[in-house]
Amino acid sequence: MASRNQAKPVSAPSSFDLGAFLDSCTTLVNRGLDRFLPKASCKPAVLHQSMRYSLFAGGKRMRPALCFAAAQACGGQMEEAVPLACAVECIHTYSLIHDDLPAMDNDDFRRGKPTNHKVFGEAMAILAGDALLAQAFEIATHARGWPRYSHKDITYELAKAAGSLQLVAGQAADLEAEGKRIAPAQLRYIHERKTSALLCCSVRLGGMSANCTPAQLAALTDFGYHVGLAFQVIDDILDVTQSSEKLGKTAGKDITAQKATYPSIVGLEKSRQIAQRLTQRAFAALKPFQGKAEALEALAEYLLKRDR
Ligand code: IPE
Ligand code: IPE
Ligand code: MG
Ligand code: MG
Ligand code: MG
Repeated sequence: MASRNQAKPVSAPSSFDLGAFLDSCTTLVNRGLDRFLPKASCKPAVLHQSMRYSLFAGGKRMRPALCFAAAQACGGQMEEAVPLACAVECIHTYSLIHDDLPAMDNDDFRRGKPTNHKVFGEAMAILAGDALLAQAFEIATHARGWPRYSHKDITYELAKAAGSLQLVAGQAADLEAEGKRIAPAQLRYIHERKTSALLCCSVRLGGMSANCTPAQLAALTDFGYHVGLAFQVIDDILDVTQSSEKLGKTAGKDITAQKATYPSIVGLEKSRQIAQRLTQRAFAALKPFQGKAEALEALAEYLLKRDR
């Protein structure tokens, strides 16, 4: 694409107040989740406590933020996107609970706290994950529905991103690749599915909540795909370079588990370059918004430079 040559430099300064934006996203999504989820005292209480434990453990809320930012870029109101932002966060949190299980990545810490199965036991953690996945679809029914996008379209988006061709495909391939030398193309296949699919879905749903045009949706898809890939490359880098305290999850796990990651296959320096290049591609995708996608731009830059 010719426009990609004019991509915004990764280090470009921005006057956009990302801190304030992220605070308002977190407030909106936390309030929404608390409202949509059964109370912790609701029978079976231990299940609802388990769901709420992981959901409110202190995640960065990047998928809701991307969803809200996309809504803004298309001229929409953040409030309109709340059910969709909550739905993607439920799917994400379910995927983390299951990802941490002994049968998968076997992790003891998540979001700065003991993992769900460490607190509630494996059986309840599995069930909390199952329930959060279903909860996402229930919450999505609270979306208003828009002239261009029906509840059917929204359901399809969520189901497709979460299903056996995307998120779960990526998780399956990730486990299969443990201890093996895989080609970069296969690593990209894994990252596209286990991570990029849900980030892309978050951005697309934000656009849909603003009744975006087909051209805007195409631009958001391009943006979300590349930001999503960069997100997992950075996650792989942080696993090698950061402390467990900073990450809120056990650092260095990918090497111990012999995971296929960008640092393990192409090295740290090349991985950083790849993340930068993917972020440039994401910036270029925002060109049709003609400067109105400030929050998305700021988020892409933040996600590249994040340290946790
Ligand atoms: C971690 O996601 C799992 C990946 C897809 C890499 P986040 O880094 O967004 O985790 P939280 O939501 O902040 O805990
Ligand atoms: C997790 O990838 C992706 C999903 C949960 C879908 P990782 O296994 O790399 O995530 P972390 O490092 O445990 O957060
Ligand atoms: Mg994993
Ligand atoms: Mg993991
Ligand atoms: Mg990781």
